[in-house]
Amino acid sequence: MKKIVFSGVQPTGNLHLGNYLGALKNFVSLQHEAECIYCVVDLHAITTFQDPKTLRSNIFETTAAFIASGIDDSKNIIFNQSSVSGHAELSWILSCVSRMGWLNRMTQFKDKAGKDKEKASVGLYIYPNLMAADILLYKATHVPVGADQKQHLELSRDIAQKFNNDFKVRNFFPIPEPLIPKNISRVMSLRDGTKKMSKSEESDYSRINLSDNPDLISKKIKKAKTDSGNIPDNIKELEKRSEAFNLLNIYSEIVGQKLEKALNEMSGKDFSFLKDKLSEVLVEKICPIGKKMDKLMQDKSHLENIIKKGTEKANIKAEENIKKIREIIGFV
Ligand code: TYM
Repeated sequence: MKKIVFSGVQPTGNLHLGNYLGALKNFVSLQHEAECIYCVVDLHAITTFQDPKTLRSNIFETTAAFIASGIDDSKNIIFNQSSVSGHAELSWILSCVSRMGWLNRMTQFKDKAGKDKEKASVGLYIYPNLMAADILLYKATHVPVGADQKQHLELSRDIAQKFNNDFKVRNFFPIPEPLIPKNISRVMSLRDGTKKMSKSEESDYSRINLSDNPDLISKKIKKAKTDSGNIPDNIKELEKRSEAFNLLNIYSEIVGQKLEKALNEMSGKDFSFLKDKLSEVLVEKICPIGKKMDKLMQDKSHLENIIKKGTEKANIKAEENIKKIREIIGFV
C-alpha cells in the first residue's frame, strides 16, 4: 500500500515548542519518504469561538510555520481545511458511523469542555469525527502527531474499521497508523512538568513560542521551574523529577542526542548549567524559524498562493475519494 501521510495543526495562535517537537519536526522528515498532506485545520479551530480577523491571521501564521519549519510546498500539499468541502461532508457521514459511547470516552473533550460541558459547542464534542474525516478523506496511512492526539487516532481507526465492515468494503479505508515521536511525545509546561505545554495556558512563561526572540527564550528558560537537587546520573531517578526530565528531554531532542548521552553530559551539574546550554540550543534552533515566519507573514499574497495551490491539489484527491464514498453509501 502506498504510504500517504496526513496531519493537521489548528490555527489558534501561539505555536510553540510542543507543536514543533511533537509534530512539525516530523512533518519535515517525512516529506522525504512519502506523499505528505499538511492541513491548517480551521474547521477544528472554530469549535471554540474565534475572532474572524484573528483567525484569518492565524491561518496565514500556521501556513508560514509549516514553510519556515522546512516543509517544501512544491513537493507536498499545504492547504486549509475549510477550502476543501470534502472534510465537512465526510465528517457528517462518519458522524453517522461513529458511536456516542466512543465519543464519550474522549478525554480531550472532558478537559476542554471543563465543568460546564452543557455549554460546550456540539462541534467540540464531535471534533474527533472531523479528525477521522480529515485523515480518511485522503486514505492516509500514517499520521504524525504528539501523544495528546493518540486517543483521537484510535477513534479514527475504529471509525475506519466500522465503515469498512458496515458497508462490506474490506480495506477501503486503510487503518491509519499514528506516528508519535519516541523520545519526546509530550513536551511539558515550563511552569509545571506534569502539564503539557499548551497554547491555551494563560502564562506565556509556560511555553517557548516559535515567535519568541533570543532574550525571551533565555528569560523563560531561566524562570523554568526546577527542583532543589542537582541533575541525577540515571534515567530512573530523572523520570521521577518531572521538570528536570522535561528540560533534559527537550535538550536531547533539540541537539539530536539520546537522553542517556545528554544525561551523561549534565549529571551532577546544577540546573543553571543545563539552562544555559538549553537556551543556547533553543535560540539556535527556534529563532531562525520565527524569523522566517515573520518574513513570510509580510507577504500574504505569497502565502495565499501556497494555500491556493495546495487546495487545488487536495480537492482533486478529496473529490475522487468522496465520489467512491457516495457510491458505497448508496447516494444517487
Ligand atoms: P493541535 O493544533 O493542538 O496541535 C498540533 C500538533 O502539535 C502536537 N502537540 C504537541 N506535541 C508534543 N507536546 C506538546 N505539548 C504538544 N502540543 C501539541 C499535537 O499532538 C499535534 O500533532 N486535533 C489536532 C489537529 C488535527 C489533526 C487532524 C491531526 C485535526 N485533524 C488529523 C492529525 C490528523 C490538534 O488539535 O492539534
